[in-house]
Amino acid sequence: MAENISGLKRTCYNGGLTASDAGREVTLTGWTAKTRNLGSLIFIDLRDRTGIVQLVFDSETDPALFEKASSVRNEYVLAAKGTVRLRAPEAVNKNMATGEIEVFVSELRILNEAQTPPFHIDDKANVSEVNRLRYRYLDLRRPSLQKNILMRHKIAKTARDYFDENGFVEIETPFLTKSTPEGARDYLVPSRIHHGKFYALPQSPQLFKQLLMISGFDRYMQIVKCFRDEDLRADRQPEFTQIDLEMSFVEAEDVMNVNEGFLKRLFKETLGMDIKTPFPRIPYSEAMRRFGSDKPDVRFGLELTDISAFAADCSFAVFSNAVKEGGAVRAIAAPAGHFTRKEIDKLTEFVKTQGGSGMAWIAVNDEIRSSVSKVLTADEINEIIRLTGAVKGDLVCIVSGKSNVIYTVLGALRCELAEKLGLIDNKRFEFLWVTEFPLLEYSEEEGRYVAMHHPFTSPVPEDADKLESDPGSVRADAYDIVLNGYEIGGGSIRIHDRELQQRMFAALGFTKEAAEERFGFLLDAFKYGAPPHGGLAYGLDRLAMLICGTDNIKDTIAFPKVQNASCLMSSAPDYVEDKQLEELNISVVPLKKENESDNNE
Ligand code: AMO
Repeated sequence: MAENISGLKRTCYNGGLTASDAGREVTLTGWTAKTRNLGSLIFIDLRDRTGIVQLVFDSETDPALFEKASSVRNEYVLAAKGTVRLRAPEAVNKNMATGEIEVFVSELRILNEAQTPPFHIDDKANVSEVNRLRYRYLDLRRPSLQKNILMRHKIAKTARDYFDENGFVEIETPFLTKSTPEGARDYLVPSRIHHGKFYALPQSPQLFKQLLMISGFDRYMQIVKCFRDEDLRADRQPEFTQIDLEMSFVEAEDVMNVNEGFLKRLFKETLGMDIKTPFPRIPYSEAMRRFGSDKPDVRFGLELTDISAFAADCSFAVFSNAVKEGGAVRAIAAPAGHFTRKEIDKLTEFVKTQGGSGMAWIAVNDEIRSSVSKVLTADEINEIIRLTGAVKGDLVCIVSGKSNVIYTVLGALRCELAEKLGLIDNKRFEFLWVTEFPLLEYSEEEGRYVAMHHPFTSPVPEDADKLESDPGSVRADAYDIVLNGYEIGGGSIRIHDRELQQRMFAALGFTKEAAEERFGFLLDAFKYGAPPHGGLAYGLDRLAMLICGTDNIKDTIAFPKVQNASCLMSSAPDYVEDKQLEELNISVVPLKKENESDNNE
């Protein structure tokens, strides 16, 4: 039966007790991590969010207390009063922060019992993710997850402190709002009062923070949930958190400076690490050319070499045709010359999963092996080796095709090779600004230009004239902050001129009326004195993921969603009562059978 806590309140947390506390009387609370009954002695490991401490009970000192301790099972909730004492030298546990001491208990209350949990609460236990997320509240008891969630708190606190000290004001913006285009699908909320109308949950507070600049708040920040209905990946969630900022009367340089200051402070306070600022800056085109990615991991080399000029006239038709058709041939030389045929075949498979049609290779050893030795001459193979700078022991991986596809493929292959070859130093943090993104990119699917960041991003001033004549060549006054191959944040200087904003909407294919209907409130606001402004938003979950040293975003979110955007614990999303649907004037159309396509309705 659950006992009362009255009169037995905690005096300190468990994890901080050390040898210097010996002799102190303490009252501790927590969950039972482990019990051991040696007949005359019982040991209970008591866990709280700060750590684990060993409680000791002796059958001779207090038989009734001993009896009670023997009834304790894993995950029982306890309060225990006792005296801290040094362990005997042979009993010291060097792997435990409190391993030099134990608490000899004089009073024990069982505040609650617990059923045997569905899995052992221990970082080393091998438990499926499905099971862990189903019982997330138990999973969250694991020390590693507690550490991550506490670290996330520290990140948020440092952000609030830093930006407050630099004159930023935290202002909340609405969740029930109109759609903001950040490139994903919206989550919609039906309106009960306005028949047929919907709120969109914000993909980001972009428009509101710009409006706050027009209101004169000058420096805004918010730690805020954003909602995007997009395909999930290891670093993406449907609802995620941004550290969102906006500043007035600034240029890109100013926003970058404030943020370098923030990241410097953040890494000092969270990891005790001194990071060097300013961060390197590279234009988008250079990032793509060298690394095949706009968020390159620069902890290792393996840069791309463009061999298109050579390939255009070589004797292998696949290469020369690719160039003639407007594509390219690019290569990576990696110290993987010792890879077996099977390992190389796996790389080729990998290339295919990334959208490549295949991979040619040359292994440079005393004897040269190559997948293209029958279609290229020995001189041509030597020329590729020369062009890529490959040396003995290298494997040259070559991919041909559409330029942007090859970038994606080789960008991914570069990381795969680095991983396989152990070239990544997990202790290093390499920051980088990627700048001068194209303002617009052509979407084959939509048959029009779409904004590479969002439609409120300003072109760099000297390119603004080309918005109508050569939209594809206009560079954006935008900057992404990249850390170890992840985009941890992105931002830009915004358009603050009504006419330029209208031209931007036109470049994106909006008619005047459509732009007015969707963004009229912004265009109106621009009439009343919009200051020059710009900002940035970090993905807090991603930042936390990197600081916590995990590659799974779920490890930094208390209650995350899984791949299909559902919550395994609460079973959201779920059906609702018919009455609720009626109130909203919504009826659910039955799912079509799988073999019925749209065309044969
Ligand atoms: P952007 O769309 O680049 O910019 O988002 C900013 C940062 O948010 C993180 N992020 C995500 N994290 C987890 N799950 C997701 N689904 C997800 N999507 C984005 C990334 C990204 O760099 N309004 C602009 C910011 C601005 O211009 O000021 C915006 O939202 O780390």
